[in-house]
Amino acid sequence: MATPERIPVGIANAIDYERLAPQTLEAGRLAYIAGGSGDDVTVRANRAAFGHWAIVPRLLRDVRAGHSRLVLGGMALPHPFLLAPVAHGLLAHPQAEIATARAAAATGTCLMASTLTSNTLEEIADSAGPSRLFQLYLQENRTHTLDLLRRAEAAGYRAIVLTLDAHLQLPSRSALATGFAMPLECVPANLASYTPSPATPLAEGESRIFQGAMRHAPTWDELRWLLQATGLPLWVKGVAHPDDARALKDAGVAGLIVSNHGGRGLDGSPASLAMLPGVRAAVGPGYPVLMDGGVRSGADAFKALALGADAVLIGRLQLYALAAAGALGVAHMIQLLTEELHATMAQAGCAQLADITPDHLIPTLPC
Ligand SMILES: Cc1cc2nc3c(=O)[nH]c(=O)nc-3n(C[C@H](O)[C@H](O)[C@H](O)COP(=O)(O)O)c2cc1C
Repeated sequence: MATPERIPVGIANAIDYERLAPQTLEAGRLAYIAGGSGDDVTVRANRAAFGHWAIVPRLLRDVRAGHSRLVLGGMALPHPFLLAPVAHGLLAHPQAEIATARAAAATGTCLMASTLTSNTLEEIADSAGPSRLFQLYLQENRTHTLDLLRRAEAAGYRAIVLTLDAHLQLPSRSALATGFAMPLECVPANLASYTPSPATPLAEGESRIFQGAMRHAPTWDELRWLLQATGLPLWVKGVAHPDDARALKDAGVAGLIVSNHGGRGLDGSPASLAMLPGVRAAVGPGYPVLMDGGVRSGADAFKALALGADAVLIGRLQLYALAAAGALGVAHMIQLLTEELHATMAQAGCAQLADITPDHLIPTLPC
């Protein structure tokens, strides 16, 4: 599909990139990206959760010195939008993550590069700005995990983000219905030189899940090993339960991302936004907590910040903008989100991110 490097007509808000996606992505690819797992219950919950809150306007406050700057994990950022790790950028654009990285560099946005990108982590680092993190999936073979860590360290990534909520991913029925199959060219470039371990056959009576798919799933032992295996700060993505959050903080994890993988993990799990206040309460103020899942506007980000997040990650919108207009589209989408957040902050009387507190929200009444 043609991918002109021009902002398409009719994009006034960041969410318009999602509305445009049926025109810029082939139906099967769109269903794969838009879908979650199973019946997409959690995908819908993520979006619906933002509708449960309204933002209360405030009057007469002077916001003329307003800004949305923050410091996160030692990185000075102009706004609290991060580009979430997403696999297989080639599905959306021929330049894949290199285009996303250029957009990140141009806008000062922090990029999280996935383990499963179409470009290598070194290629992405060459195009990205200094604010870049590497998202790690633990590999079956520890030698491969260690190699990924050493490569990320050498390529100047500032932290490792370990994703823990997607070892088991069941396909979305809506994506399956389109007959989508991953194109042959969509191979994870970072893993190309690693020989996969031979599959271990199941013994009689063993479960395809417990003794099969979960055989190499990470455990607390793996987390402890990983913490001492890298000198970089280790973040964890995929946190929902406050007890997990507390235990991860106590174990030495540098920051958390409240996430359900955009509804691509456990279908039926709660909206990320619903779990955020509990996680913030568990780890206390001053400890880095990010969230993602369903963020489509500056007002959504405002609500997440009010409920305890320091910043939010943008997943699908990033791919829709990439498909629509490459690096330019992603940079434009980030600019729109930032302006939307500034407008919401101004109307709510918040001149800086620290002013955004739970007091600015009230629950919406059922109709
Ligand atoms: C197509 C696709 C691929 C993804 N790949 C990864 C990945 O490789 N690693 C990861 O940690 N999360 C991955 N995610 C999850 C995102 O990082 C993020 O948690 C999620 O998309 C946020 O929800 P949103 O799409 O509603 O913004 C992926 C999401 C999508 C839609």
